[in-house]
Amino acid sequence: MSGFLRMQNITKRFPGVLALDNVSLSVRKGEVHALLGENGAGKSTLMKILSGAYHKDEGEIFIDGQTVDIRSSSDAQALGISIIYQELNLIEQLTVAENIFMGSPIMRNPAMVNWRAMMKKAQELLDELGISISARSLIRNLGVAHKQMVEVAKALSIQSRILIMDEPTAPLTSREIDTLFSTIRMLRERGVAIVYISHRLEEVKEICDRATIMRDGRNVAVVDVADTSIDEIIRYMVGRKLEEKFPKIYIPLGEELFRVESLSAGKLVRDVSFSVQAGEILGIAGLVGAGRTETARAIFGMDRLISGSIYVAGQPVVINRPLDAIRAGIGFVTEDRKEEGLVLTMNVGSNITLATLKEFMRLGKLNLAQERDTIRAYISKLNIKTPSHLQISRNLSGGNQQKVVLAKWLLSHSRVFIFDEPTRGIDVGAKIEVYNIINELISSGAAVIMISSELPEIIGMSDRVAVMHQGRITGILNNDQSLTQEEILQYATGGARQTA
Ligand SMILES: Nc1ncnc2c1ncn2[C@@H]1O[C@H](COP(=O)(O)OP(=O)(O)OP(=O)(O)O)[C@@H](O)[C@H]1O
Ligand SMILES: [Mg+2]
Repeated sequence: MSGFLRMQNITKRFPGVLALDNVSLSVRKGEVHALLGENGAGKSTLMKILSGAYHKDEGEIFIDGQTVDIRSSSDAQALGISIIYQELNLIEQLTVAENIFMGSPIMRNPAMVNWRAMMKKAQELLDELGISISARSLIRNLGVAHKQMVEVAKALSIQSRILIMDEPTAPLTSREIDTLFSTIRMLRERGVAIVYISHRLEEVKEICDRATIMRDGRNVAVVDVADTSIDEIIRYMVGRKLEEKFPKIYIPLGEELFRVESLSAGKLVRDVSFSVQAGEILGIAGLVGAGRTETARAIFGMDRLISGSIYVAGQPVVINRPLDAIRAGIGFVTEDRKEEGLVLTMNVGSNITLATLKEFMRLGKLNLAQERDTIRAYISKLNIKTPSHLQISRNLSGGNQQKVVLAKWLLSHSRVFIFDEPTRGIDVGAKIEVYNIINELISSGAAVIMISSELPEIIGMSDRVAVMHQGRITGILNNDQSLTQEEILQYATGGARQTA
């Protein structure tokens, strides 16, 4: 086996889980190498071993033919390995520049740090990457996409020979992905060995040279991406052929369940109006920063409304905080599971029943058996990969954490659901499970609002599509056979006149 980076026969066990079973990976210089597999296949674990975050139980790692011993993240850094983790790793209270250079030797002695030079260097790095944010901004004031770009800048601030990207594009939209891809191409030219983890197989086709595919903690195949179709890759990943990617169903629409009129909030929600009927999926498309998440947050009482009205089933409702929204029958499956969706330190089961615990109370006592049965039912329904419902949520793979958040909201008795990027980080097979669950919701009379940056998903699942640009809805389009990504993008860039 040749390769600049070689990981050989790596095995890693966690209590109750054999996460990696003799896995090997070989990456050349100047290669973008995809690491693929379903949620829980072991991708992040393998990369955390390379970055020094986890210790392997067995196996060997070679760089440039030499055995290396990686015991900590500073060992990894010294070897020129940098990683962009799936979960963002920034310090909210610090500036962009401080985050970029955190852990770098120049920060070891704060008294010696030349702040002005650091700001300047950070700004250069951001500009070079085409990221339009100031190095002085505080992380907590940035959206998810910009945070992700800061992670990229941070990884590139050290001269890396090996760069690992664990789902780098999950929070990004097309334009930012283009920028990221040109950066990746530039690094490939420079001879960096790049490991690229993603569930977006179209992107893998576009940017990757070879792919190592894993299933259940084992190697399945190594392929040349150019010679392998997406369907073949999927078959390796899931071990079978998948039926239709978007199991869209059409059911007769019922009464209007939800309406917002002239909603304004913050800087990014301006005069937004739309309605959704029972049985309907309204997709909300737009570029990052268009105000989609902000609209959802405003509806859900997380941000203060400046003006506007909200109606549930024809009745005006006043929402000042999330609890008001929940009581009105609105559920919000958030985009940022780490921030708002999931309590990482709590076990899987407690997270699932977090919002509905009261329902398992009888005469002031928790009916544990009933709670456990419900939890188990949802774990199996969503196919959540965990050794038991008592596993701490932090220990689940990224995609499985997302499923736990979904389960929590599905249990609630909402009639109106807002999903913000519901399939982000979820593998191809599990995406279909999520769509089927959304289908179940609308079949039972719920109204669904689905915010998504993946246009195929918007087109594949929505009945109508509202497109946002700079805080406004620029069009509400019927999703008949003729609706195209190009048409949506035109509205998303403000290029088309308001219709509807
Ligand atoms: N710290 C941990 N403790 C216990 N189990 C863990 C830990 N980290 C990972 N696992 C388990 O190891 C397996 C592999 O997880 P990993 O995060 O590597 O998957 P992944 O391929 O990155 O999936 P995803 O696509 O969802 O991100 C999973 O079953 C996961 O629950
Ligand atoms: Mg992962």
